[in-house]
Amino acid sequence: MKMQVDLRSDTVTKPTPEMLEAITQAEVGDDVFEEDPTVTKLQEEMATLFGHEAGLFVPSGTMSNQLGVHVLTQPGDELLIDHLGHIYNYETAAASHLSSVAIQPLQGHRGKLSVEVLKDRKRGAYDWEPNSSVLCLENTTNKGGGATYSEDDLDALYEFAQEEELAIHMDGARIWNAITATGIDPEYFGSISDTMSICFSKGLGAPVGSMLLSSEANIQRARRMRKMWGGGMRQVGLLAAAAHYAVEHHWPLLKDDHRRAKELAATVAECERLDIDPDTVESNIVIFEVHGETAVEAVERLGDSGVMVTPFGPQTIRATFHHQIGDDQLAYTQDQLRDLFN
Ligand SMILES: Cc1ncc(COP(=O)(O)O)c(C=O)c1O
Repeated sequence: MKMQVDLRSDTVTKPTPEMLEAITQAEVGDDVFEEDPTVTKLQEEMATLFGHEAGLFVPSGTMSNQLGVHVLTQPGDELLIDHLGHIYNYETAAASHLSSVAIQPLQGHRGKLSVEVLKDRKRGAYDWEPNSSVLCLENTTNKGGGATYSEDDLDALYEFAQEEELAIHMDGARIWNAITATGIDPEYFGSISDTMSICFSKGLGAPVGSMLLSSEANIQRARRMRKMWGGGMRQVGLLAAAAHYAVEHHWPLLKDDHRRAKELAATVAECERLDIDPDTVESNIVIFEVHGETAVEAVERLGDSGVMVTPFGPQTIRATFHHQIGDDQLAYTQDQLRDLFN
């Protein structure tokens, strides 16, 4: 029997009946007046969880990243980021438009930076150079295939940033997956980042919502900018309730997404016309290569069988797991891959 399996992204989930119930039960108020108790509670809880002083609920990960960049920079500054970074590739050049900063993309490994890659890349000693002021670290990496930083990697980067007087912004859109994969204590991230963006609408499965975490002073500034950028929301406790539900009930499910991603990678490795190093799969994202046809052609053929994935380069395909993909859908996908690529 033909099945529909949507592995294009972990953002395609739909709210469950239980999540909708949590939304209808939410106590709300006008959050522009800071009177929404559900939002206030979520901001406090997330700040405590991640070891930051305060939080600000925003509509999207793009907005929380851009607010982070904004509060950490001055016009004429530059961000140091891996060339696969979301802020560099997928945010419509917002950093240049909203904060008047440049971006120096660096060649890291699977979307991750290291001290080795960063060495001698900081600029700003002369008037004519952009001033490198922020290190942007993505964890897990999206375009890098769900790779995670270890605590040792992050300790070394933090030490480097301190020595070089660089602030750290962590794009933690999938920090939940990173924590699930590595076991790092969430509070640790507050000790090594100046600002941090977390998302509720990726693998956690909330319909909308992200949050910027930082110091009280930075969050005050970000709140003002959020209003200026049109992101002040009124009875948004409805969405905060969904986010809260997602953290409580869907975060524990991510370990199953990671297991399924690894199982899919093992099948990909067995297919004659597909290539992957299964050891690269650390979380919920599986990136693999196709030969003998383009990625677009392969994705189309898979789509005809009911399995939806994303072309991610001329020969590259991405499959992303989320809590609405179960073992039956995984088995169906594995069968389709064996049929179509052997
Ligand atoms: C790593 C990363 N950062 C930021 C974002 C932006 O999130 P949004 O789509 O909510 O703006 C995404 C979106 O997929 C992402 O993967």
